[in-house]
Amino acid sequence: MKILVTGAAGRLGGRLVQTLSERGHEVSGADVVGEGVLRVDLTDFEATRAVVRACKPDIVLHPAAWTDVDGCARDPQRAIVVNGFGTQHVGLAAAEVGAAVLYVSSNEVFDGLRSKPYSEYDVPNPGNPYAYSKWVGERALMNINPRHYIVRTAWLFAHGGKNFIQAVLSAAEAGKPLRVVTDEVANPTYNDDLTAALATLIETERYGIYHLTNEGSCSRWAFARYFLDRAGYAGTPVEPIVVSQYGRPSVPPRYSSLQNMAGALMGIRLRSWQSAVDDFLHREGLLRV
Ligand SMILES: NC(=O)c1ccc[n+]([C@@H]2O[C@H](COP(=O)([O-])OP(=O)(O)OC[C@H]3O[C@@H](n4cnc5c(N)ncnc54)[C@H](OP(=O)(O)O)[C@@H]3O)[C@@H](O)[C@H]2O)c1
Repeated sequence: MKILVTGAAGRLGGRLVQTLSERGHEVSGADVVGEGVLRVDLTDFEATRAVVRACKPDIVLHPAAWTDVDGCARDPQRAIVVNGFGTQHVGLAAAEVGAAVLYVSSNEVFDGLRSKPYSEYDVPNPGNPYAYSKWVGERALMNINPRHYIVRTAWLFAHGGKNFIQAVLSAAEAGKPLRVVTDEVANPTYNDDLTAALATLIETERYGIYHLTNEGSCSRWAFARYFLDRAGYAGTPVEPIVVSQYGRPSVPPRYSSLQNMAGALMGIRLRSWQSAVDDFLHREGLLRV
């Protein structure tokens, strides 16, 4: 397949370019920054069109986003411009060349007011500006291009970039006090596992909404406790706190665990988050037990 990947300098986009190329697809990457990518600012409709027309892809994979949730809370208008209208531009440009689109969305589109996992057909009710902008992107794409996949995922951890695991392990190594919230629950998800699942999904041409995360969910605190123990920091205390003590501009949903119903029916399932974390730590040379 001929594939254009947006956000190719980012964690998920970069891994998608690599994996899809290895699988024999003809892949181009685009981003506002980065080496070896087509430079495009997706908030510019004509520039987006030009890149999509030049590539003439069969499908555009669209993980590009403004992912700084606190930045989005400080500048909600910009969040909508990048994540909402950027996605509209991708959807329109793809439709013009007859390409399908896969948009990567977020667990945060749900309000988190319940305590059982959200399926693909539960109704989003975003509770912060980042979540709202991601939901605007979903709506825009649904209305523009019927050949769409909307894939919601959560709590990505990736090799080679900033992520929660590396931040907490670095703080533990430096002997800094650790405080992690207990009242934010979702699904830790290994970037490499999600990438493999997306590569399989786009070959099905079964368009629709999907929830793809590693299996199982936990609180941020339980997530941190698990990987600290596995990386040899079992004796390092982690103070349990609640989101209101953390004082961030963006308030995450309290409970936004995703249920993979649609993908599982087609045989697309990801392993447990614990097994994925072990594999991640092993590949980083950090697994100690
Ligand atoms: N990371 C998570 O835990 C998580 C959880 C759920 C869902 N998601 C979704 O998963 C997707 C991938 O996340 P990620 O962690 O791989 O994100 P990432 O590393 O931040 O990558 C996103 C890329 O998009 C680029 N970008 C931003 N604005 C752009 C614009 N106007 N035009 C073109 N490119 C632009 C970014 O460039 P700059 O770096 O210069 O901004 C960055 O290279 C996102 O859609 C995100 O909403 C992520």
